[in-house]
Amino acid sequence: MPINHQQIAVLDFGSQYTHLIARRFRQLGVLAKLYLPTADLSRIPNLIGIVLSGGPGSAGDKEYPYNPDIFKLGLPILGHCFGHHLIAHHLGGEVNNDGTGEYGLATVQVGESVIFEGLAGGEVVWMSHGDSVTRLPQGFKTIGGTPDCPIAAMANEAEKIYGLQFHPEVTHTVHGQIILENFAFKICGAARDWQIKDWLDQVIQQTRKDVKDKKVFLLVSGGVDSTVCYALLEKALGRESVFGLHVDTGLMRKNEVAQVQGSLAQAGFESLQVKDASAQFLSALKAVYDPEEKRKIIGQLFVDMQAQVSREVGLNSQDWLLGQGTIYPDTIETGGTHHADTIKTHHNRVAEIHQLIAAGKVIEPLKDLYKDEVRELGQLLGLSPKLVWRQPFPGPGLGIRLLCHNKKGERDNEKFDEIKNRIARIVPSPYTAKVLPIKSVGVQGDYRTYAHPCVVEIPNSKFSNIDWPELEILSPAITNKVRAVNRVLIRVDDGYGSSANRDWHLDDGELIEASVTKERLDLLREIDAIAQEEMVKAKLERDIWQFPVVLVPFGLNSKDSVVLRPVSSLEAMTARFYPLEPEVLQQIVSRIIALNQTSFVFFDVTNKPPGTIEWE
Ligand code: XMP
Repeated sequence: MPINHQQIAVLDFGSQYTHLIARRFRQLGVLAKLYLPTADLSRIPNLIGIVLSGGPGSAGDKEYPYNPDIFKLGLPILGHCFGHHLIAHHLGGEVNNDGTGEYGLATVQVGESVIFEGLAGGEVVWMSHGDSVTRLPQGFKTIGGTPDCPIAAMANEAEKIYGLQFHPEVTHTVHGQIILENFAFKICGAARDWQIKDWLDQVIQQTRKDVKDKKVFLLVSGGVDSTVCYALLEKALGRESVFGLHVDTGLMRKNEVAQVQGSLAQAGFESLQVKDASAQFLSALKAVYDPEEKRKIIGQLFVDMQAQVSREVGLNSQDWLLGQGTIYPDTIETGGTHHADTIKTHHNRVAEIHQLIAAGKVIEPLKDLYKDEVRELGQLLGLSPKLVWRQPFPGPGLGIRLLCHNKKGERDNEKFDEIKNRIARIVPSPYTAKVLPIKSVGVQGDYRTYAHPCVVEIPNSKFSNIDWPELEILSPAITNKVRAVNRVLIRVDDGYGSSANRDWHLDDGELIEASVTKERLDLLREIDAIAQEEMVKAKLERDIWQFPVVLVPFGLNSKDSVVLRPVSSLEAMTARFYPLEPEVLQQIVSRIIALNQTSFVFFDVTNKPPGTIEWE
């Protein structure tokens, strides 16, 4: 008999983190599911609490309707960010936007409340908001504040209704899990009656039901998600019903294809087919400069390759479904839920895939999971730790780590001077700051941004005395105040004792006309391999979640510059730049300089938000 698990309902107002809230409660052994804000929750058996997620809207907007009866059910309610505003708005408080937002880390002074039991006082939390609650509803008290947001947390203890301006669900809110634990156990009285193994059994059964008598054609990149998906499908459907294809896009890392084949063969997936499509990918990306356009072309080509191979091996499309190792963050960042904004179109969420999904021709057993849950499932399925712990690598590969520029769209110098002056007022001496004319994608307050990076130069610095904590404060101070900038970099090829007195000035750098070419890809492959090798040598593969290296079309003598972007994260929805040990950073930088094929080398000191992990 299935157990009727206790449940917490999470109302999805479109935040990038909504699903993560549910995930956090499941981690605590409490079943939590997402619902539309207009759902009738009175029908859910065993409901013990409600969470109102964050979202890109403003409380009271007509586009964000909700069922007001949730406030009449007598159940505990917890609002995060937009949810916090909604509680205030609905119950007669006030919400305003005075132009000061908070994006990234902040310190909240927390007061006395059940929801904060076990916390110390000054709590490091993750913020991502423009609106704020400016007057409490009746019956509420303030239980936390920051200098920029005096009502960062509020409570009506008698009614068990709580509002938090910050996001306790993201790991960078240091004690966020304690807050959710307090809500689940002390406020909702949860009994801890849920575990991940229940999920595996359910997914296997669901997969059999969805696939019926058909077979599955799976695109396998060799990364964690597609490999776990492969193992899961084989377990659910049997080996003869799953066909795996690895497409060599030419956008892979150095020696990647051979490595993927080798490790999958070792894990017992001998039937994997490999298709070399590098020429098609390269030619389709010729003279394409816009990041979203690149992503869409790459995603479409994967579908074309699948169709082509199907024809080549004589498969009848009626008998086959397309399998994908899509996980939850892929869906949410492509604007995959009701209210969410599109941050990036992931390769497995392009238009044609959406059509196939609508026609019931796609199966994605992992689509509700996060990376750490996928890894847990991989272990349960018996995959080797080496495979399960591979660092994530995006489907579009190096194609989205090679920024392009069409010289026709030159920049507006005056606008730049104005931005530079505004930043100069924020940056303390002796630092100096410049704005680069290139752009990258970011995420702020649940919206996509496409803005400039700012480079902070630190005179006479050495690798050993880079003040990372100070940079972590300076970086959001710039991006919170200057909207034209969504990333902060430091320059690491000059000074720092890293190179023989290179007299190169950022002011002399200029935009370079550049597109996706084999030469640039080969250079990026080489630099990426250097970063990977040094990271592995320093045994940092588990501490660093992912280490993208980006080639940007800005520099001297038509040579690209390089951005190093190591980050720590747990599920990629938020991330923190990873302060590399001085020796490791120095080694990487000197090896890049020794190639003699690049201009400046930068290190990205932007957290997510406001930057995303990848630049495009
Ligand atoms: P961002 O850059 O949005 O990336 O912070 C979050 C995570 O997703 C990966 N990523 C992708 N993975 N297909 C994928 O399979 C894609 O199109 C794609 N784009 C980004 C990224 O590497 C990071 O781990």
